[in-house]
Amino acid sequence: MDQSHRPAWSPSSWQRKTPLQQPDYPDHDQLEDVLKVLATRPPLVTSWEIERLKRQLAEAAQGKRFLLQGGDCAESLSDCRAGVITRRLKILLQMSLVLVYGLHVPVVRIGRFAGQYAKPRSADRETRAGVSLPSYRGDIVNRPGFSEVDRLPDPRYMLEAYSASALTLNFVRALTAGGFADLHHPEYWDLDFLSHSPLEDEYSSMVSAIRNALKFMEMIHEAPIEGLSTVEFYTSHEALLLPYEQALTRTVPHNRGVYNLSTHFPWVGMRTASADSVHVEYARGLSNPIGIKIGPNTGPDELLQLIEILDPSDEPGRLTLITRFGHNRIADHLPPLVDAVRRSGRTVLWCCDPMHGNTETTDGGVKTRRFDNIMSELKQAFAIHDSVGSFLGGVHIELTGDDVTECVGGARGLAENDLQRAYKSTVDPRLNGEQALELAFEIVRQIQRNRTHSAK
Ligand code: PEP
Ligand code: CO
Repeated sequence: MDQSHRPAWSPSSWQRKTPLQQPDYPDHDQLEDVLKVLATRPPLVTSWEIERLKRQLAEAAQGKRFLLQGGDCAESLSDCRAGVITRRLKILLQMSLVLVYGLHVPVVRIGRFAGQYAKPRSADRETRAGVSLPSYRGDIVNRPGFSEVDRLPDPRYMLEAYSASALTLNFVRALTAGGFADLHHPEYWDLDFLSHSPLEDEYSSMVSAIRNALKFMEMIHEAPIEGLSTVEFYTSHEALLLPYEQALTRTVPHNRGVYNLSTHFPWVGMRTASADSVHVEYARGLSNPIGIKIGPNTGPDELLQLIEILDPSDEPGRLTLITRFGHNRIADHLPPLVDAVRRSGRTVLWCCDPMHGNTETTDGGVKTRRFDNIMSELKQAFAIHDSVGSFLGGVHIELTGDDVTECVGGARGLAENDLQRAYKSTVDPRLNGEQALELAFEIVRQIQRNRTHSAK
């Protein structure tokens, strides 16, 4: 597309389009007041961090890094607590250690946290026993309880979500800059579940191998190796609630462009990812790297159109395609998309979300996901990319460090009747710490298998 024919963009140009997945705020003056306050609040992240992430994603798109993106489906304000944040960070660190160790490439770590408070819903209203109320849209909009008061969208929740994001990020930054992620002390980030887990041996032998390698290097070096006590973490969330996102979209003194400074990596969800959508309109003008969820309804032509709109200059690191089809659909849907992108000569980062296409409801009415189906979609994603000379550069996972029972299967063989024991998610079922770690080990096995296969 000729750039000169692109319609003008501004942080508010999305307002010209038909709204989608937005709450109906009853009090417009109150909404305006909140947005004015938000627009004066300091940014949560900086443009140079965002640019650094973009460079790292560009490397991932070339196979020089691997992207690990994970966290809650929906953060809740009541979970803005030290324990929850620490445990989630620990499991992400452990997974990334497994990946670095097994894949021999650096990992880009992006949390689904410090802002993942807005949820798209398939229906605007929910009906229970003849009573119809607005759907729950995440803690930034309303509350999950089924009452008139809970479900009323309240703009003041945006200020609460902004503050909780800032508190979360502040704690994550302090932890990751201090000794918490220190490779000399991986025991700091051991989780309780490991001491009685079927994965314990595999994990501890990896940790002691790393510790020995470190000792060896420091002996040769005759000094501690700098830089091993900190890790980089980036944040991401679905850029869904557009008035909030706009209020934190800013220009900055020393970089050109316009940045969403509420997060490093905003993504567009599947329900709002059509080429003419209001969310794509908002995202196209940002200087951040952008993720977009691609599901079974996106064909090759629309995908190429999306790439043209979101990344007209083929900027390295700009676009991550997060595919989510389901284990029984990926084999039909992914190959034509990979093929179309390859023919177009564009470079994107392919990331697999093996969670959202594999959600099901048990006979007892509980929303769950089967570990085997999650693994199956992921393995197929690796194999499909490999078979056409492309490669999978990342994974997108819903997980928690807490010992929940929301997804069935995994090393401990969680069954459907275990789900009631510790089901806490208000939206989608997450992998617990043990299942998430098992998934990381499986990713390593899969990539190593593909490498051996292509070396033959
Ligand atoms: C999500 O990531 O929680 C989500 C709603 O995903 P998707 O847009 O892929 O359905
Ligand atoms: Co989800």
